[in-house]
Amino acid sequence: MFSYSQNDLYCEEVPLADLARRAGTPAYVYSSRSILASYRAYDEAFDALPHSVCYAVKANSSLAVLGLLAKAGAGFDIVSGGELFRVIRAGGDPSKVVFSGVGKTAAEVEYALANGIHSFNCESAAELALIDAMAARRGVKAGFAIRVNPDVDASTHPYISTGLSRHKFGIAIAEAAAVYDHARSFPNLVAEGVSCHIGSQILDPSPILEAVDKVLELAASLRAQGYPISHLDLGGGLGIAYHAGEQAPPIRGFIESLHQRLRESGLTIMVEPGRSIVGPAGVLLTRVLYRKKNGHKEFIVVDAAMNDLIRPALYHAHHEIIPLRKNPLPPVTADVVGPVCETGDFLARDRQMANAMPGDFLAVCAAGAYGFVQSSNYNSRPRAPEVLVEGGTYRVIRPRETYEDLVRGETT
Ligand code: LLP
Repeated sequence: MFSYSQNDLYCEEVPLADLARRAGTPAYVYSSRSILASYRAYDEAFDALPHSVCYAVKANSSLAVLGLLAKAGAGFDIVSGGELFRVIRAGGDPSKVVFSGVGKTAAEVEYALANGIHSFNCESAAELALIDAMAARRGVKAGFAIRVNPDVDASTHPYISTGLSRHKFGIAIAEAAAVYDHARSFPNLVAEGVSCHIGSQILDPSPILEAVDKVLELAASLRAQGYPISHLDLGGGLGIAYHAGEQAPPIRGFIESLHQRLRESGLTIMVEPGRSIVGPAGVLLTRVLYRKKNGHKEFIVVDAAMNDLIRPALYHAHHEIIPLRKNPLPPVTADVVGPVCETGDFLARDRQMANAMPGDFLAVCAAGAYGFVQSSNYNSRPRAPEVLVEGGTYRVIRPRETYEDLVRGETT
């Protein structure tokens, strides 16, 4: 949904340089068409298989994005009370919400039960006891799945790989049956599912298939023992292309490759994709402030920084950086850096890229997931606005923060 026409970069039918001039920079811009197309790719690929696509709110929790997905029929995967609040505020259906996470508080469990969420993905026996007690107080039954740790290697960045036994997540698959058995002693819990999630930004789906086989086997054995297991939650979605020319695995093909084994299980299948729905749908627009040279090293100093997009600094993540208007100059090899006072404040290093000059606009690509949500006010920088493009029009769905916003609620 981002492409050049002549020399100008467009999001859908909107020329991004015009948008950047009006909305200012830095600014996050999302394509609604791209978000919906990726959501539908998951939803439609399941075809007649009973399923629920629960968008992982953590990837981009903007109300407008959640609203778009809620209207399209999505469920939601949440990891906090705040995310549930957002889903409800955006018009999402709480009965399609699954609550994941290793450290749910009593207040969050209470809030989720009060709003009738679908189920909890539980990560410890102690958490099951808490949910049972809270459900008893409300006089309701709570559906749960145990998030099992299948001990497979997702081959992704170590900070976002979760499925090995050394990680904090889930319950070792070998111990899961004993925990389901223990849960029988909790009268207010219903063992409805089995869940797993092995990591994020997975470009080779084979470890996911390996995990699927393991959890299918567990679900079948639990059903044979009389547990009312009716769903299997396969966790997050596929990785996306961050490098030019990189190919992400196609969503449809991946889901279709699961059909046969899933159909035989008779279970409702849930997935919790985040990155693959919103990642390619977003860019971070920025303006070149200065060019400078230290020795032989070229720097392009821009007005977006690590507080706006922390992924390069935190994970050494690669995001393509392209001009909103192509110029005829030969490419340059440079570091793209922001105004924050840290050496780690870079968006790209030693990058061969467009020879952008002060005043030129650039787009940091594939920034729709884990971009704005991980932004901060570090260096007392107001957070960037978010803009949603729909065809030939766009609207600001979150305004740029002001200096007053920076100090709201504080006292001297
Ligand atoms: N379900 C669970 C339980 C998760 O922990 C995650 C992501 C997802 C679903 C969504 O996974 P996805 O479809 O987006 O791959 N901040 C990091 C990513 C952290 C991912 C954490 N969990 C980044 O910027 O790459």
